[in-house]
Amino acid sequence: MEPLILGLESTCDETGAALVRGTELLADVVASSMDEHARFGGIVPEVASRAHLEAFVPTVEEALSRAGVGLADVDGIAVASGPGLVGSLTVGVAAAKALSLALGRPLYGVNHVIGHAAVDELVHGPMPERTMALVVSGGHTSLLLVNDIATDVVELGHTLDDAAGEAFDKVGRLLHLPYPGGPHVDRLAREGDPQAIPFPRALTSAKAMQTHAYDFSFSGLKTAVARWIEAREEAGQDIPVADVAASFAAAVADVLVDKTIAACRAHDVDTLVIGGGFSANSQLRELATERCEQAGIDVRIPPIRYCTDNGAMIAALGSAVARRGVAPSRLDIGVDSSMPL
Ligand code: KG4
Ligand code: ZN
Repeated sequence: MEPLILGLESTCDETGAALVRGTELLADVVASSMDEHARFGGIVPEVASRAHLEAFVPTVEEALSRAGVGLADVDGIAVASGPGLVGSLTVGVAAAKALSLALGRPLYGVNHVIGHAAVDELVHGPMPERTMALVVSGGHTSLLLVNDIATDVVELGHTLDDAAGEAFDKVGRLLHLPYPGGPHVDRLAREGDPQAIPFPRALTSAKAMQTHAYDFSFSGLKTAVARWIEAREEAGQDIPVADVAASFAAAVADVLVDKTIAACRAHDVDTLVIGGGFSANSQLRELATERCEQAGIDVRIPPIRYCTDNGAMIAALGSAVARRGVAPSRLDIGVDSSMPL
């Protein structure tokens, strides 16, 4: 029988515990401290760390109980050891080490960003040998060439400044929407004209493509939106909020999808996985579905509950790593807030 892997996630504001055997998800429990951060308009690292400390044991106990197994049945412990907030990571990794030591089971420290791609295996089954993965959330925007999810993932590009979700949250603030603004901007955008305002598409000029073909940049776009709003306000004109949201959202989706499809073509890949909380974005979903269909690319987007941070993604990656026979991590591993792939 394949090993039973307990996956633990604590990179940001979600405490996650999940049990996976092979590519079968047996339980997935998530506790979030987002409500505690909302009134600050952003994640407060110390509040997040303390919330992990309090939520950790109940979350693991609930996952074991839902899967109908005990701690003694666990064959291996996978934990996200980066990237993320140092204090949050430390709580999860310390707890994972304690479990590994107490149970005498191997520890697998894994990369959270790769986990966002790996989770798709629980939904659509094992990935084809070469798969492209676009991981987009409030914290990351990365394009990954997945040769083997457990052992060979190459980062082709990433954002040079803001993540896509972060840019949406900032534009949400400019439009006076509640935090996090992403889903609100998405909703407004559906009522507006995406071609109303020609916002810039960063790093798409021929010159930028030479050095940053698969990199992204969204902070200039956010500034362009801010300037456009300011100019209208100074002129005493109304702000057509739905058109601003739609034009901004179109600029983000356009760049994400264009560069991803170009990467698929350049690397001769015909399967694309989109993961991370931003995959909920309707403009990205629509454009990716439409353009991938034209390009003959099979696009896989897991249901949204698997795309936001959770233990299932870490257990899925840990399970792949254990199945490949990769050596476990040492018990003195640290955490890495900016962990490379
Ligand atoms: O993965 P996630 O839940 O948390 C991390 O950032 O790790 O991603 C949440 C981010 C937030 O920035 C949120 O505003 C954004 O994704 N987001 C959206 C949508 N749903 C979530 N942005 C635009 N449209 C959405 N529908
Ligand atoms: Zn994440």
